[in-house]
Amino acid sequence: MSETATQLAQAARDDAGMLFGFWYPAARSTLVRRNQMTTALLLEIPLSLGRDREGRPFAMRDACPHRGMPLSFGRLEANNVECSYHGWQFDVHSGQCAVIPSLTADSKLKCDRIFADAFPCEERDGYIWVFVPEPDARTQSPSASAAPTPAPELPKFSADFHIAHLSAEMPVSVDHGIIGLMDPAHGPFVHQAWWWRSRRSIHDKQKAFEPIANGFRMSTHTPSSNSAPYKLLKALYGAPVTTTIDFVLPNMRFEQTRCGRAWFSSRATVTPVRRDLCRLDFCAAWNVAPWGAFIGAGLRVFGPRFIRQDTETMAKQSIGLKHRPKLMLIDDADRPAKWYFALKAAYLESRRTGAPMVHPMDGPVTLRWRS
Ligand code: FES
Ligand SMILES: [Fe+2]
Repeated sequence: MSETATQLAQAARDDAGMLFGFWYPAARSTLVRRNQMTTALLLEIPLSLGRDREGRPFAMRDACPHRGMPLSFGRLEANNVECSYHGWQFDVHSGQCAVIPSLTADSKLKCDRIFADAFPCEERDGYIWVFVPEPDARTQSPSASAAPTPAPELPKFSADFHIAHLSAEMPVSVDHGIIGLMDPAHGPFVHQAWWWRSRRSIHDKQKAFEPIANGFRMSTHTPSSNSAPYKLLKALYGAPVTTTIDFVLPNMRFEQTRCGRAWFSSRATVTPVRRDLCRLDFCAAWNVAPWGAFIGAGLRVFGPRFIRQDTETMAKQSIGLKHRPKLMLIDDADRPAKWYFALKAAYLESRRTGAPMVHPMDGPVTLRWRS
């Protein structure tokens, strides 16, 4: 069996395929309010999420370091969370213990040496992002888990823009979620619609790809000229339409379409929740006047339908995967999936050795397939 086939088989079995040491969107910003804690599961880590007095978000492991009570049952007291069992208090950002009510005045226990797990947490583009460090980093000092980079941000190209969000759970491992997202060959079978495309419209495609840091890019190109939205854009702005699509570890697909002053930028992330469940979060921003609101309405109508076609397909696929079938990846349609597994392997190898990551692609490649 080839290396990628082995990785794919593993993904179908028990390997959770989850990458630590990255930022992930844990929840939509609107679900995380002041004076109230909410919970989320991220890479099988239960989190309690909330906001401090200033409205800054925080994320803690939803387990008190004393006897495991979920901190989300507790209450917020200034910038501390108070556990509902014995009233220990922890700073919501550092996790440092501030109060142990049962201690007598002469107690030698230094409560400031006790820490609940607190994760780096930032708010961007309407999501609460949480940095999930390597599991062993958490057994060291709290600073060992500090995020090396700021949370990812959706690229925007003007001060004024519209923004929209869509999300859906997919009952498969993160690997199957991601390779399903980047798979060009399922379109005519899964996303059939009279206004979009059908099986009969399958034709030869050829696209150039190039390596980028931690990922690969479908090189900037002019999208298929017979599609109505692109024709309209070109007529409106009198400039050629160009599209660039990037995949970047651990889970992000960025797509940017530009035409003169007009731009449309989107990001899809596939976030591991459990080993058998992931969540797709789609976020788009654009400044296409005068149809800004119109595009939002279109996304809200057709986006969920498109995403439902994918999630229903993956729900059916998960029935097959339960029995651990043999799987394969073929050229060229599955080559992006092969690059994804190769990138993950290269990333894990560099983590293991401490050497810089060796990119699995050595230069630009043109892929050909029919879809
Ligand atoms: S379990 Fe939290 S204070 Fe005891
Ligand atoms: Fe799809």
